[in-house]
Amino acid sequence: MVARALREAGLELLQERYEVRSGGLLATRREILALVAGAEAIVSDASIQVDAELLASSGRQLRVVANFAVGYDNIDLHACARAGVIVTNTPGVLSDATAELAVALTLAAARSIFDAAADLRSGRWTHWDPSYRSGPQVGGSVVGVVGMGRIGAEYARMMKGLGAAQILYTSRTPKPELERQLGARQVELVELMRCADIISLHTPASAATYHLIDAAMLALVKPTAVLVNTARGSVLDELALATALVEGRIWSAGLDVFEHEPNVSAELLQAPRAVLLPHIGSATARTRDEMARLVARNVITVLEGGQPLTPVLEQSV
Ligand code: DGY
Repeated sequence: MVARALREAGLELLQERYEVRSGGLLATRREILALVAGAEAIVSDASIQVDAELLASSGRQLRVVANFAVGYDNIDLHACARAGVIVTNTPGVLSDATAELAVALTLAAARSIFDAAADLRSGRWTHWDPSYRSGPQVGGSVVGVVGMGRIGAEYARMMKGLGAAQILYTSRTPKPELERQLGARQVELVELMRCADIISLHTPASAATYHLIDAAMLALVKPTAVLVNTARGSVLDELALATALVEGRIWSAGLDVFEHEPNVSAELLQAPRAVLLPHIGSATARTRDEMARLVARNVITVLEGGQPLTPVLEQSV
């Protein structure tokens, strides 16, 4: 059962072997609950809450929930563990696409690309001004990576390639290889917030990272700092960010994720110097196809009695 939709690259692998039902892109919660009844595998994505209710609606034959995303904060892992259901995600295949988008947001937010383009189109470009929209420069900057997992590491490499002077990072574990390759330095979050010119969030959503970047953390940043979030909306207190932007306590922000997607708070929509995108971090054709194939291969492996390829939660099968 594909709760909403899966790209053809993965769908055809499943259809060759199984009866596949899909809810469709606009499936409601009620429709999804009805559709999962009797499913042995559920393909979910970040927009689907996989909780005790959905698992109960499916039934005891359910063996695997394969999430079309690397993040899995939409899934109640405890409920899945209790139900004996394996959970998989799609790590690795989307790291470079998501890091690329974070770099694009960094450049767009630092260089005021969207605001400047809007000025031109609306006729506000009327004369030469040497100070016009002159903000921070990416080359030579100190880049702070909050969460040095696969995507964070890829972003750090790309930013180094763009001329970043120094990479600071926070992580649960040190990354000696990145320290060797990039001269990256592990620091506490407070130091990163104080010292970085560009701060990019790459930490997964969890109870521990809920509003990790809150008003107190934002109070530490340089007024010329740029903040980028391609991780999950809940990692950042969006209202505190909107206030910091309005008060000019931070230069700009580039956000691809929001706490209550697809709703974006009015405060953020109205905040100055905010580049806002509709969660397109991994949205390249190649990456989305690879994600779809990995989802399908996880489902097939589990239904054929093997161990999942990329488990978040493994049950003894
Ligand atoms: C992910 O893989 O977690 C992306 O954010 C897509 O949902």
